[in-house]
Amino acid sequence: MNPASLIPLAEPVPIHWAWFDVLLIVTLTAHLIFMNALVGSAVIGLTRTLRGRGTVIREVGKKLPPLLALTINMGVAPLLFLQVNYGHFDYVSSVLMGGWWLAVIAALMFSYYGFYIYKFRYDRMGDSMRTALFATSILGLLYVGWMFSNNMTIMLRPEIWSRYFTAGGAFLNWSDPVIYPRFLHFMVGAVAVGGLFVALLGGFRANQDMIDTGMIWFTRGTLVNLAVGIWFLISLPQDILLAFMGRNIPATATLVASLVAAAFMLAAGFRKEPKKAAIWAVITVFIMVCTRHWLRTLFLAPWYSMESTPITGRYGSFFLFLGFLVVGLAAVAYMISLYFKSRQGRA
Ligand code: HEM
Repeated sequence: MNPASLIPLAEPVPIHWAWFDVLLIVTLTAHLIFMNALVGSAVIGLTRTLRGRGTVIREVGKKLPPLLALTINMGVAPLLFLQVNYGHFDYVSSVLMGGWWLAVIAALMFSYYGFYIYKFRYDRMGDSMRTALFATSILGLLYVGWMFSNNMTIMLRPEIWSRYFTAGGAFLNWSDPVIYPRFLHFMVGAVAVGGLFVALLGGFRANQDMIDTGMIWFTRGTLVNLAVGIWFLISLPQDILLAFMGRNIPATATLVASLVAAAFMLAAGFRKEPKKAAIWAVITVFIMVCTRHWLRTLFLAPWYSMESTPITGRYGSFFLFLGFLVVGLAAVAYMISLYFKSRQGRA
């Protein structure tokens, strides 16, 4: 079977596709930053508790329900933009994953309730029950992340789609050598940025132990992630690896820029400057997301090019979107200012 025959036709888009790519990259950056703070700080809190040093878990445990809500909210926007430009790949991979993909909703609700119960019933639970609840809630998050990595890699490989017929239904991307370093790269990055979140939280609480612990996880996690990143790079198909090694100048420049930003981030980490490190972390994640975007473009190149997307040129809905975006952002800014003026916010 010719895999190309399995790719649905691209739907026309109302405005130039680049708008959706930019919005996808920007909103995915926000999603990943919240996801990193969520997964990373939870893993650090749990590890400290298992080692018998348990105060970090209580502090981060209070922040996990809102962080999970923000991660989900910030995930909706890139999901929509992804479906606009790459729906004919992403819808297919979602369908091919079937129940594995649908179970993401159940896993998210499980983790959400778990973190809520941890926060609000903390004093009414025994130590082992608390730790078990916390650990299984983290497993729920890891399941969700793993499913996203599966979806985002199956969509890039139409040549494996026909497996659906031989595997007897829904399948995951276990046989892809790229998915393991890719997922690990996201998770180790999450632990590093989670460390930075713990350090920033420690700064607000004037808790030196949290600052020190967080910065150690941040710097060591980033160093480990450099090694995982190299593994990720060399696991890529040769033509894509070569594209990042100079054959495709913009892709190579993006990768180099992300590494330079990571070096600045790491330097701020070693100097124990959490706020500067946080600014560099946002810049690094943004450029890494751009690099990841190049990866998708290169993977899809044999099958599809965005340049061939039909554009209808109807700007009405776009202006409506921009209008709501501005009004929405103003409303959010107003709500945040009210929160900080309130007693709870000041405390
Ligand atoms: C809270 C648990 C979550 C975790 C741990 C998580 C983790 C991840 C990870 C690791 C990736 C990158 C996967 C890869 O490229 O290999 C990713 C991408 C993504 N996530 Fe999440 N995610 C979570 C929740 C969500 C939710 C609830 C949504 C949507 C409502 C969402 C939307 C997205 C989208 C759209 C992408 C990919 C965008 C793109 O390819 O451009 N995520 N997420």
